[in-house]
Amino acid sequence: MYTSFPLPSPASGFTEAETCGPVLIRRLTDEDHGAAADVYRDAVHSQAPALYSPQQVAAWAGLPLSRPEFRFTLAQGFGLVSEGEPSGSTARPPIEAFAVLEPLDRVALLYCRGRSCRQGRASALLQGLEALALTAGVEALRTEASFISRPLFERQGWQVMAIEELALAGVSFRRFLMQKPLTAPPPG
Ligand SMILES: CC(C)(COP(=O)(O)OP(=O)(O)OC[C@H]1O[C@@H](n2cnc3c(N)ncnc32)[C@H](O)[C@@H]1OP(=O)(O)O)[C@@H](O)C(=O)NCCC(=O)NCCS
Repeated sequence: MYTSFPLPSPASGFTEAETCGPVLIRRLTDEDHGAAADVYRDAVHSQAPALYSPQQVAAWAGLPLSRPEFRFTLAQGFGLVSEGEPSGSTARPPIEAFAVLEPLDRVALLYCRGRSCRQGRASALLQGLEALALTAGVEALRTEASFISRPLFERQGWQVMAIEELALAGVSFRRFLMQKPLTAPPPG
C-alpha cells in the first residue's frame, strides 16, 4: 500500500510559479484538467507515431475517454504543469506539459505537447515531483515508462526493473517498469 504518505503541504512549494532549472512550473489545479487532457492527446498524436503502430496510437490517445483512471489520477494525484507564453486575447498561458504523482511514489502521467518537446519541460517537472516526493518521505519513485520517455528517465538516474506486456483498450503494449531511489541533497 502506498496511500499513507502525507500530502505535500503548501509550504513544500509550487503554490506559486517557480523555476526548476530554466523552466517555470506551477501546481496543477482542478481548472487544468481539460487542458491536461488536450496536452495528453497532442503528446500522443504528435510523438508516438514514430515508435508505435496506428492502432497503439489510437488506443493510447483514447484512454482518457475510455477509462475513468485518467480523471481519477488528475483529481487524486499531485500534479505540476509547465506553461507557455500567453497569446492573443487569452490572458491565461497555455499548458505545454504536465506530470502527476499518483500515489505519491509513482509518476503516473508525464506528457508534453509536440510543439514544446525537447525544451527540458518534462525533465524540470520530474525534478519538481522528485523534490516534492522527498519532502513527503517517499524513499523511491516508480513509473511505467514508454519507449519515448525511457531515455529521459534513464538520464535522470532511473533504472529499468522489468518489462511489462499489457493490453490497453484491447491493443498490446510493452512498457518499462522503472524506479529511482530518492536521497536528500547534502546540507548546505
Ligand atoms: C516523454 C515526454 C514527456 C518528454 O517531454 P519533453 O519535455 O520533450 O522532455 P525533455 O525536453 O525534458 O527531454 C527530452 C528527451 O525526451 C525524449 N523525447 C522528447 N521528445 C521526443 C520525441 N518527439 N521523440 C522521441 N523522444 C523524445 C528524448 O529522450 C529527449 O532527449 P533527446 O532530445 O536528447 O533525444 C514527451 O516526449 C511526451 O509527451 N511523449 C509522449 C507521451 C509519453 O511517452 N509519455 C511518457 C509516459 S511515461
